[in-house]
Amino acid sequence: MQPAMMLFSSKYWSKRGMSLDSAMFQQQNQPQQKHTGGQMSRRPSDSDSGRTAVVFSLKNEVGIVIVTCLLQERRVNLNHIESRVSKRVLNEVEIFADCSCSKKEFNELLQQLKDHVNIISYNTPINAWSSEADGEDVPWFPMKIAELDQCSHRVLMYGSELDADHPGFKDNVYRQRRKYFVEVAMNYKFGQPIPRIEYTAEETRTWGVVFRELTKLYPTHACKEYLKNWPLLNKHCGYREDNVPQLEDVSTFLRERSGFTVRPVAGYLSPRDFLAGLAFRVFNCTQYIRHSTDPLYTPEPDTCHELLGHVPLLADPKFAQFSQEIGLASLELQTRTCRNSPLCCYFFTIEFGLCKQDGQLRAYGAGLLSSIGELRHALSEKACVKTFDPKTTCSQECIITSFQDVYFVSESFEEAKEKMREFAKSIKRPFSVYYNPYTQSVDLLKDTRSIENVVQDLRSDLTTVCDALGKMNTYMGI
Ligand SMILES: [Fe+2]
Repeated sequence: MQPAMMLFSSKYWSKRGMSLDSAMFQQQNQPQQKHTGGQMSRRPSDSDSGRTAVVFSLKNEVGIVIVTCLLQERRVNLNHIESRVSKRVLNEVEIFADCSCSKKEFNELLQQLKDHVNIISYNTPINAWSSEADGEDVPWFPMKIAELDQCSHRVLMYGSELDADHPGFKDNVYRQRRKYFVEVAMNYKFGQPIPRIEYTAEETRTWGVVFRELTKLYPTHACKEYLKNWPLLNKHCGYREDNVPQLEDVSTFLRERSGFTVRPVAGYLSPRDFLAGLAFRVFNCTQYIRHSTDPLYTPEPDTCHELLGHVPLLADPKFAQFSQEIGLASLELQTRTCRNSPLCCYFFTIEFGLCKQDGQLRAYGAGLLSSIGELRHALSEKACVKTFDPKTTCSQECIITSFQDVYFVSESFEEAKEKMREFAKSIKRPFSVYYNPYTQSVDLLKDTRSIENVVQDLRSDLTTVCDALGKMNTYMGI
């Protein structure tokens, strides 16, 4: 599940005990939708039959990761994927993948897949493929904050079912509990209060173990922006060892400090769906707790990762701005692939980023701040640390079976944001986007009128700033 930018497998995340909001299947296609303004075409829909399916079995453990990488690199849209117990071979699992792509892409994909998996069947419908101007395609993306409902409900993995190697797979009570969390998240709509969860004693104990072990490391390993919000989180959201904070309280807390909010999500989202939320200052948060048998291990993002890894920094206005920049960049991308794009920077910053403070390295990435082993490793002499530069960072390969080869360090969030902004300018894209905080919507800057509207807003803000400067100068006698 790591994006092309970050190709993560569930096993990878499980080793880290972290989140799949960063997990990475490619963006789900929404072929019927098309943005106004004629800026975007669409991928083939069911009607023009650009879809096909392939059934395969794995030759080895990393097969699914390779398949995911191939799909991403070849720009094949994965509409749906699921595993099934084989009816042909005893004790074998087959994987069904529903894709959208051109005939040429599909044939090339099959050739490559044969090297890594056992192809059982596939279909290439006659007349399935229309001519495509692939370079002009832009996947659907939300333009209003309420449209995030569509993104947040497209859960790729661990929605309602658990993999056979999940610690809770054989625990029926846990599985029932997970279904409850899925229902809560899938029924949630933008604007509603987030349902409060009555966490069980067992869940609270598990949270407590994670909380206790990680908080021992934070004073020496976490950045100061992260640490400064802890007393406030304790006071306003009940961040304590014996209490699992409620998302509704966290959302209110963040809204008042950085304009971010959180919303419940049932499991893994595609990178684009996840990052689209950031464009609107919305963070998708899981509410379930990892299985109690191994509190320091989780094969998927759970609320421990979200609340301990992400939330404290989302309360920081500069970090919030940086996160939104990445989200907006993700909307603008013409390509679905993540590699060599700003999306890749999400992984090496928000999940695994380091910064310098008082001459020392500190962690600000949520993946580090929620993983005891990697947090220690990233700040040890064993880790390779390079300066964050989106141009080189985005081509850095992500390791899927162990700690990262390289971590990237920024002087500050402000610096990282500016670098991201500059990098985003160099990316080929058919339009620019502007987030309108008054309407909580994204405006496409595609003609003089839309740009003029933004200039009007900026002019109004500048007038306010000039007025404040004038008053200050008068007060200071300048
Ligand atoms: Fe995360």
